[in-house]
Amino acid sequence: MRKPWIVGISGASGTPYAKAVLGGLLDAGHAVDLVVSRAARLTLVDETGGTIRDAHWKDDLGTWLGRDLAADDVAYWPAGDFAAGPSSGSYAVHGMVVVPASTAACAGIALGLSKDLLQRAADVNLKEHRPVIVVPRETPASRSHLVHLLALHDAGATVLPASPAFYAGATDVQQLVDFVAGRVLDAAGVAHSLYQRWRGELGAARLEG
Ligand SMILES: Cc1cc2nc3c(=O)[nH]c(=O)nc-3n(C[C@H](O)[C@H](O)[C@H](O)COP(=O)(O)O)c2cc1C
Repeated sequence: MRKPWIVGISGASGTPYAKAVLGGLLDAGHAVDLVVSRAARLTLVDETGGTIRDAHWKDDLGTWLGRDLAADDVAYWPAGDFAAGPSSGSYAVHGMVVVPASTAACAGIALGLSKDLLQRAADVNLKEHRPVIVVPRETPASRSHLVHLLALHDAGATVLPASPAFYAGATDVQQLVDFVAGRVLDAAGVAHSLYQRWRGELGAARLEG
């Protein structure tokens, strides 16, 4: 039986993180169910020059990810489709990653608003006690942002801020992106080689290059 990870892309800056997580899941042989919020279409246009149209999602996604997609690799669900598979707890999935997560999505999930399929799917996975990994991107954080992140943590989500570290020897932006994506995959228990792990030796990653 096909058992995907759900990836929800909301309208925070950080579409490169979503691309790296999608690539990592697919490289590890996982199927993905993809939900893209309406606002994320704007960040996609802004940050990539393209978007993902409901009627042409496969072409658009293949272009963005730079890879051919096999038939079962990705299922795409429009954000307004509350009858979609991920709307129900009986739909089999491993869990969900929200990457990047807007403050609005964090608030909506924390409060159980389910204003679109992305928020509904996250709510469903929390109630089913499946892994939900939320990757917020906003700075500075207001009290409201922090309260909603704490509520997500208390509800069982992993709050994994888009906060790259510099100990892994990154020399370009993609390596910083891959560090965050790699930490997401670590939280999901998915194997990858996206960044150099800390090995207990100061400067080792930098000296190795
Ligand atoms: C270009 C652009 C960049 C944005 N960047 C952020 C951001 O980094 N973090 C954030 O929380 N919201 C950001 N927003 C605002 C969200 O898109 C907005 O709050 C929206 O309601 C989120 O809806 P969603 O959670 O359904 O995707 C950005 C909007 C645009 C157009």
